[in-house]
Amino acid sequence: MEKYGGSPTEEQVKEIVWDTLNSGKVIPGYGHAVLRITDPRFEAFLNFGSMHFPDDPIFKTVRIIFEVVPGELKKVEKIKNPYPNVDAASGSMLYHYGLKEFSYYTVVFAVSRSLGLTAQAVVNRAMLSPIIRPKSVTTHFVKDLVSKG
Ligand SMILES: CC(C)(COP(=O)(O)OP(=O)(O)OC[C@H]1O[C@@H](n2cnc3c(N)ncnc32)[C@H](O)[C@@H]1OP(=O)(O)O)[C@@H](O)C(=O)NCCC(=O)NCCS
Repeated sequence: MEKYGGSPTEEQVKEIVWDTLNSGKVIPGYGHAVLRITDPRFEAFLNFGSMHFPDDPIFKTVRIIFEVVPGELKKVEKIKNPYPNVDAASGSMLYHYGLKEFSYYTVVFAVSRSLGLTAQAVVNRAMLSPIIRPKSVTTHFVKDLVSKG
């Protein structure tokens, strides 16, 4: 955005993508080791931003990049997932709400992860159970399970 004096156009994003790939670097925020679809967390952030701050310049840039990058990455045969991961939008959310010190982004990430770990540690001690990897399920799944009694 500094280089273009604001949000780049789709054509400019294409240029940046190919300059980046040709220089041997990756496109940050795109691709995932496991997912083969647009990360649902990215979609949630995109919907949230569209609802609450559609005109934020950085958020707008995230949208433009999303319009362009998957189509370009699909042209690179070895890339198995050309779609955005959560990191393609999370920074624009933090920035919008005033957290502009980039070195803290990893800290925020670590804090949110440790909430899960510590909750699990409490359960492990209470139940004297071994450490497990909990299954990740949707709220819909839990409601369904409870209503079936
Ligand atoms: C997340 C990531 C590491 C997954 O890599 P992976 O498990 O190797 O995924 P794939 O099997 O699709 O990758 C196959 C090839 O495509 C490349 N590739 C994947 N995503 C890419 C991207 N966004 N830009 C450029 N190249 C990419 C990989 O580097 C790999 O190349 P290599 O065989 O020369 O090493 C990779 O997509 C990436 O580096 N993304 C950008 C960085 C990023 O967003 N990281 C945060 C993830 S939460």
